[in-house]
Amino acid sequence: MLLKPLRFTYFRKNASVTPFVSHTFKTKDLKPFRFTHFQKKVGVGAPSSYNSSDRRHSPSSADASAPMNGTLKSILDLYDPSAPLAQASTIPAPWYVDPGVAELERQAVFGRAWQAVGRADQLREKGDFLTAELAGEPIVVVRGEDGVVRGFFNVCRHHAAAVVTEPQGHAAQFRCPYHGWTYGMDGALKGVPEFEGVCDFDRAKNGLLPVRAEIWENFVFVNLDSQAKPLREFLGGLVSLVEPLGLGELRFFERRTYTLQCNWKVYVDNYLDGGYHVPHLHKGLNSVLDYTRYTIENFEHYCVQSSPLRSDADSDAAAAATRQGRAFYLWLYPNFMINAYEGVMDTNLVLPLGIDRCAVVFDFYFKGIATEAQAHHRESIAVSEKVQAEDVAICEAVQRGLHSRAYGAGRLSVRREAGEHLFHRLLHADLTQAAAAAE
Ligand code: FES
Ligand SMILES: [Fe+2]
Repeated sequence: MLLKPLRFTYFRKNASVTPFVSHTFKTKDLKPFRFTHFQKKVGVGAPSSYNSSDRRHSPSSADASAPMNGTLKSILDLYDPSAPLAQASTIPAPWYVDPGVAELERQAVFGRAWQAVGRADQLREKGDFLTAELAGEPIVVVRGEDGVVRGFFNVCRHHAAAVVTEPQGHAAQFRCPYHGWTYGMDGALKGVPEFEGVCDFDRAKNGLLPVRAEIWENFVFVNLDSQAKPLREFLGGLVSLVEPLGLGELRFFERRTYTLQCNWKVYVDNYLDGGYHVPHLHKGLNSVLDYTRYTIENFEHYCVQSSPLRSDADSDAAAAATRQGRAFYLWLYPNFMINAYEGVMDTNLVLPLGIDRCAVVFDFYFKGIATEAQAHHRESIAVSEKVQAEDVAICEAVQRGLHSRAYGAGRLSVRREAGEHLFHRLLHADLTQAAAAAE
């Protein structure tokens, strides 16, 4: 195919990171990775608690020395994926603050994973389209004249302008705003103004380049990796698990996007701690969750957390009025969450914006969105916003702590933190595999 290898420009574009150490890790296609994190820690005496005798299953015991003369590989090797949950630690702090790790994630995780980029209800009619950005790549997804949903790189084959500039809409064809080249809904190049006399120009070879796009439930997924498994195969048992929840009956109501000063993985960790933080951080939510009966189940690429809900005299009134039945918290590797209650759902998409920044996109859905139901929906969103504000504050505090000389890695609760353990092992597998392939 005509695709070039993914390019790795993120940190060059976002040059707030000024590399100033000499350790580099070369890959075939990439500019050298650079490592700045441990420079900050040079000369810093590690707390004595780092000197654990159990180095094998305790990354925090190893981190004070190895990375200072290490490479990206040595940072990745600080995590031991073979440790069972009872002996496991979190992925180590450098994974959350090192530009080389973030760059590798862009290639090995976001450049290869199925990513939710929109909703199927945005693509109901032939000619409906939506645009998105995935791992720095502009994408357009469209329902063609033949009814098939297709994805394309939203990059004009002439001089690389974005062909489609609206977030969503309906069109009979796409016209590039720069010099007016037009493309069909199947990506084929149609119109090329003022190109008479141009030699060896094959219109058929200058269509928009395709990207894999597939739909599951009301979610449009895209994958930049042409070799990736089909979406359904990746989802596995999640398909039959979600089906009875009847998510298709819910209607999109509103989107809210939050920008957090933390690494994207801090937010995912927070989500996957099995309700551990709920009684301490979310008093209102805690009053309706039956915390002791909270369950956590890991599967190949997803984790299901669930809790019965209760409402009694001690329950927060707003939370009890808008959260009923049973709570399902589904996480799909690496960064997509579905939170479903009876007749209520929100999805969360966590997008890295840099080492210390991420965006979390909340889409709220309800069973009916008639005018008379809107007061209830606003109340429900207000409950979520309060919970989110509490999560934002703690995630940002965690990110500051991850930069501290006082922290290397932390242990996991066996009762609560199995989801994080799954996340960390999946991430380790993807990153080490990509790093090894690049050596
Ligand atoms: S860049 Fe699209 S027509 Fe020139
Ligand atoms: Fe939370």
